[in-house]
Amino acid sequence: MKNVSKLAFMALFIASGSFFTSCSDDDTAAPQSLYEKLGGTRMVADPNNPGQMIEQGRLSYRSVVDSTITLIVSDIVVGAEGNLGQHFAPVISEALSGNTTNVAILSDNLTDFFSANTGGGATNTYDGLNMVAAHDPARNPRMGKKANNAEYDKFIGYVGAAAGLNGVTDQAIINEVVAVLESLRAPIVQE
Ligand code: HEM
Repeated sequence: MKNVSKLAFMALFIASGSFFTSCSDDDTAAPQSLYEKLGGTRMVADPNNPGQMIEQGRLSYRSVVDSTITLIVSDIVVGAEGNLGQHFAPVISEALSGNTTNVAILSDNLTDFFSANTGGGATNTYDGLNMVAAHDPARNPRMGKKANNAEYDKFIGYVGAAAGLNGVTDQAIINEVVAVLESLRAPIVQE
């Protein structure tokens, strides 16, 4: 029970109440990047930081990232079959002992990573580990165990569910997000 209430706190801490919005400001023929399709550089109020503004594209990614983390943690805590507990064990045990700082850093890094790689421009730069190093326990002790293909599938499923929780229903956008995830399978799956 104690762990469950900590989980609830953590979910509250990382969950964001915002929703994806589509951007139709630009009617010119230039193809939109995925970042633009998810709201682009339009500034909106940041629901997690009262008084601050955030680009809608970045907010969209952060919302899905945070929901993904919440889904992974929830599955691990209830012990659902095929959960990613062994991979995230270092992160989860730290968070359950009350330290959520690194979960917040992970959320930020993942948001930077997706934003910077899908057209987020100069306002979103990723300076974390490359994908091979980040997912190799020998180089990143926060990765509890190497991931295999089935676990990667499971991860994509969590992202898909998280997108749905944040109001993403446009199948073309979902397909594009899945294509980005698939393009990263080779460096991340290491067993
Ligand atoms: C599209 C798929 C994925 C992307 C884009 C991604 C991206 C990232 C990024 C950017 C980081 C942070 C690296 C840093 O702090 O320098 C990270 C860390 C991590 N990833 Fe992934 N990842 C993906 C899939 C997975 C999968 C499938 C697993 C496990 C099954 C996994 C487990 C982890 C763990 C345990 C960490 C360390 C977390 C921490 O330091 O708090 N990732 N990933």
